[in-house]
Amino acid sequence: MTTTLDKTEGLGPAAAGASPYITATFRIRRFNPEVAEEATWEDFEIEIDPKERVLDALHKIKWEMDGTLTFRRSCAHGICGSDAMRINGRNRLACKTLIKDINPEKPITVEAIKGLTVLKDLVVDMEPFFQAYRDVMPFLVTTGNEPTRERLQSAEDRERFDDTTKCILCAACTSSCPVFWNDGQYFGPAAIVNAHRFIFDSRDEAGEQRLEILNDRDGVWRCRTTFNCTDACPRGIEVTKAIQEVKRALITRRF
Ligand code: SF4
Ligand code: FES
Repeated sequence: MTTTLDKTEGLGPAAAGASPYITATFRIRRFNPEVAEEATWEDFEIEIDPKERVLDALHKIKWEMDGTLTFRRSCAHGICGSDAMRINGRNRLACKTLIKDINPEKPITVEAIKGLTVLKDLVVDMEPFFQAYRDVMPFLVTTGNEPTRERLQSAEDRERFDDTTKCILCAACTSSCPVFWNDGQYFGPAAIVNAHRFIFDSRDEAGEQRLEILNDRDGVWRCRTTFNCTDACPRGIEVTKAIQEVKRALITRRF
């Protein structure tokens, strides 16, 4: 089914001629368990400035064409991590993807990320993802008295886990991982990234505990180093490298 929206409608010929808008087709994977058991593709043809983002296109479709289209987003600026989706077959944040960069001459496919149960349209059940995150104890663990001043750390020590502090928990990495697709019990790259962030923090005292958690049969050894996770990460985190560092720490017990 194709629904069309023409933004130049009602404008004079001069205004319409000067328009930077192009016609783009968004082919969206729709699923509503209250209506049908199977997901189907639906085309939406819209007039849009190619310098706008996929999130803008989804808003346009939802607000002007089909209010039932369901997706998550919050910040719209690459910070909250809530709008990861598969765009033209690749995991990306809708709010960080410009239409001009994804070949708008052809239909642009948009579907939910893989490996997590789709609840409706582009919305998946994130609970297994967040459970794995909670399981690695993503918080600073220290013993002894409450400090009376900051816990000091050298610039070099801070640098060891700088990359993994950038995670926004969007799940683009975990849901691009073939091991996770085949077995949702695997902790997945994002949980390991967040374990890395604390294992390599010189102020933390629960590194051994976290390593034991990831030594599990569903832990870090399941990684097959496919690099999908690194390619998918919208924050540019070297996810595979972080996983390798956790593996090495498990072998050497030095971190
Ligand atoms: S590591 Fe990157 S892709 Fe994975 S959850 Fe964090 S920000 Fe998203
Ligand atoms: S809406 Fe927050 S990261 Fe895209």
